[in-house]
Amino acid sequence: MKKIVLSLMVFGAFSLFGFSQTKPVKSIEGLKAAYNGESTASAKYAKFAEAAKKEGLNNIAKMFLATSQAETIHANNHKKVLTKLGETVGAPVIGNFDVKTTAENLVDASKGESYEVTFMYPGFIASAVAEKADGAKKSFSWAMDTEKKHNDFYQKALAALKGGNEKTFPGEWYVCPVCGNTYDVGTLTNECDFCGTQKAKYVIFK
Ligand SMILES: [Fe+2]
Ligand SMILES: [Fe+2]
Repeated sequence: MKKIVLSLMVFGAFSLFGFSQTKPVKSIEGLKAAYNGESTASAKYAKFAEAAKKEGLNNIAKMFLATSQAETIHANNHKKVLTKLGETVGAPVIGNFDVKTTAENLVDASKGESYEVTFMYPGFIASAVAEKADGAKKSFSWAMDTEKKHNDFYQKALAALKGGNEKTFPGEWYVCPVCGNTYDVGTLTNECDFCGTQKAKYVIFK
């Protein structure tokens, strides 16, 4: 009984002085969903890279390897934030996906990124802001800003493929290991636009 009274007193004092910690429930939900979503996207793009290679589309294959790597970085960043928030994170749940022709795969990939950029991440970021979950906000923002670029790459790849110009599509790709930001050789920067990481640390696909 004494113990209970003591616990209540300690809890009361902490609450009184503003030390009570409430978990950012919505942000945690979002981080878990995004962890699975990014892991699924990574697995899917790795398969899309294989399919492109089989079709002799080596530049598009390299792009998919780079975007697959970016999604793994996003998934790991979400996992790190979850762990910091005291959550136990197991292996990701990989969703189902189909591998078709590269033209179809590009359309599918673009749809996925569009959903994340226009619907999923803006909602998650709004929750993180409301809950003052800064780590979640940063991880969501890095992913969303990268996905915008991925969507653009996929649309350009599709246009190149349809126009018979795949050989002139960029064949060198770079991924920032910290935030997942993805660059083709033509848009490479000395420091990552999102997180400031030096170019020398980028992961190269060529
Ligand atoms: Fe992406
Ligand atoms: Fe970065």
